[in-house]
Amino acid sequence: MPAFLKFREDWVRPALFFGNNPISLTGGAITTGSGVTMISYWLAELSGHLSDNPYLGIIFFLFLPALFLLGLALIPLGVFLRRRTLKKAGQIPAEFPRIDLNDRIFRHGIDIVLVATIVNFLVVATASYHGAEYMDSPQFCGRSCHVMNPEFTAYQISPHSHVPCVECHIGTGAEAYFSAKVNGTKQLIEVTFHPLAPLAPKIVPNYPTPIPSPVTSLRPARYTCEACHTPTRFDGDKLLVKSSFADDAGNTESQTVLILHLGGVDSFSQRSGIHGVHLGHIEYISTDPTRTAIPWVERTNPDGSLTTYAASALNGAQPQGERRVMDCIDCHNRAAHTFVTAQEAINSAMTAGVISPSLPFIHKEGLQLLNAPYTSQDQARVEIPQQLEAFYRSQHPEVLTEKAALVKDAGEELYLLYSQNVFPFMKVTWGTHPNHIGHQEYPGCFRCHDGDHVAKDSTSITQDCSACHNLLAVEEAKPKVLSDLGIQ
Ligand code: HEC
Ligand code: HEC
Ligand code: HEC
Ligand code: HEC
Ligand code: HEC
Repeated sequence: MPAFLKFREDWVRPALFFGNNPISLTGGAITTGSGVTMISYWLAELSGHLSDNPYLGIIFFLFLPALFLLGLALIPLGVFLRRRTLKKAGQIPAEFPRIDLNDRIFRHGIDIVLVATIVNFLVVATASYHGAEYMDSPQFCGRSCHVMNPEFTAYQISPHSHVPCVECHIGTGAEAYFSAKVNGTKQLIEVTFHPLAPLAPKIVPNYPTPIPSPVTSLRPARYTCEACHTPTRFDGDKLLVKSSFADDAGNTESQTVLILHLGGVDSFSQRSGIHGVHLGHIEYISTDPTRTAIPWVERTNPDGSLTTYAASALNGAQPQGERRVMDCIDCHNRAAHTFVTAQEAINSAMTAGVISPSLPFIHKEGLQLLNAPYTSQDQARVEIPQQLEAFYRSQHPEVLTEKAALVKDAGEELYLLYSQNVFPFMKVTWGTHPNHIGHQEYPGCFRCHDGDHVAKDSTSITQDCSACHNLLAVEEAKPKVLSDLGIQ
């Protein structure tokens, strides 16, 4: 018998016979239905008419493909069950109903099956490709799940707002991709079942609030940050000007000016300054989960020798804890998600003029409103502008008549600052995620540079102010150096 005929007799005819059952037919309908829906969505997408709503993405790139595959799986399941039932009942015919290729209707049936198979294949292939691509987009990572809201909000206003999450969080290589997806799936399960968690806290997995930092699974900066920033290209100093405002009626402004010795690796391979010194090999042990307590630091010197700096309280013993090679993230831990303090937030808004320094006591009042407790961002959206207006109405009514628009703008801006930094439902508030750059608001550099990390030769990790920066002015009104530089 020619192969085709044999195939027809042994496979096609039994398949058609057994396939004629409710389960397989439902499967076929589900597959066709979801397939057609997906195809029309992709066509609409190609014509550029779709919103970037993350829920649409979840439906079209994750849910429908799953439905499509479920339908495909139901078809053979139905065939299997029907065959088993008929076999038990001894009703399997000796000969399956004839396939008559001269029968026009039957031939068309075969054509349809063939075309459907090809279309199915194309749909599954495209869906997997789209699904993988979609799972890598900031939309999926940041917006499909409200748990990520704090990080996504900060990300959108960061210098990295056009760098996809996966560039930093996954890095290069298939292994990294796989482990990140496994981790992500676990998180998706935690979030999905979250509403049930209070009912059965021991069984249902729950996600932590806030999401803990540091991210222990983050890949070394070599595979992430250094894919875009080349350490050997760092060089030189950086001028930093910071304005702050006082709590008096006139919101008296003062400025701090410093030159940061950023340094790097120059064209003669000399390492200098903040970047150069740490890009060599430094390891440390931290004794708390947030990497704030760092009592032990070991540096590999250019000649290969080791210098160990240890906190005096250790008395020479090596502490237990996480051991880590220092890289970019040990300073730039908030590279894409900078949450500022309330003080920093209002100072920079006033410097930019979006909160007008001409409003009496706006610094003092604004800071109080930012720091007040609200149960949700929605409550803050209503209360902050209202309370600011109430303050001026009771204390300085003339301001409301003369500068009503400025008061309204200030109220809205204060709420905006709040909404970029405080997320009550995730228990993220001012100061939840410390920034390691600097040492004023958080320990930062002083986790090691506190003067108490001493080596055997009794040198210590430097706390000399001028090693890191020259302070040109500290909280001065109109510092002369700024006019000398032509900045003011
Ligand atoms: C420029 C690199 C970069 C990009 C882009 C980036 N992140 Fe991060 N992310 C980090 C670093 C660095 C940390 C802090 C790691 C640490 O402290 O160990 C972090 C931490 C986090 C954390 C842990 C909680 C926290 O606030 O520390 C979450 C959640 C997170 N990122 C989500 C996202 C999402 C969602 C996106 C995309 C919308 C994104 N990240 C994009 C670098 C990045
Ligand atoms: C995909 C490329 C890419 C990756 C990966 C990346 N960056 Fe960047 N980064 C940029 C670009 C582009 C800018 C400049 C943005 C601008 O000036 O608006 C930038 C800016 C910065 C700045 C300056 C911010 C400022 O306030 O001016 C720092 C600091 C920084 N990156 C650190 C990091 C760190 C740390 C990592 C790893 C966690 C990282 N970057 C990963 C592309 C990247
Ligand atoms: C010892 C801490 C430390 C380490 C480690 C470190 N940086 Fe920095 N970096 C700083 C400080 C401090 C600044 C200045 C911050 C500021 O502008 O307020 C800075 C500034 C930068 C800038 C902005 C430069 C500019 O001209 O504005 C970039 C980009 C940057 N770092 C990238 C990196 C990358 C990439 C790595 C890892 C290879 C890295 N840094 C490692 C402390 C560090
Ligand atoms: C994990 C510990 C650690 C952290 C955190 C750290 N450093 Fe360092 N730093 C060292 C060690 C170790 C040295 C080498 C010893 C020395 O020169 O004092 C060093 C040296 C330096 C030097 C060179 C000093 C000199 O005399 O030449 C500068 C500048 C510096 N660090 C700046 C910073 C800044 C800025 C930060 C914060 C953004 C920072 N460091 C955070 C460990 C650290
Ligand atoms: C290990 C490095 C290092 C040492 C030592 C150091 N600083 Fe700093 N300091 C920094 C960095 C980095 C910043 C910038 C932070 C930023 O980018 O906002 C800074 C910022 C400052 C600021 C401005 C802060 C602000 O936000 O207004 C002042 C003031 C200051 N340092 C004072 C000092 C004094 C005084 C000393 C000596 C006792 C000292 N620092 C020692 C690294 C250092």
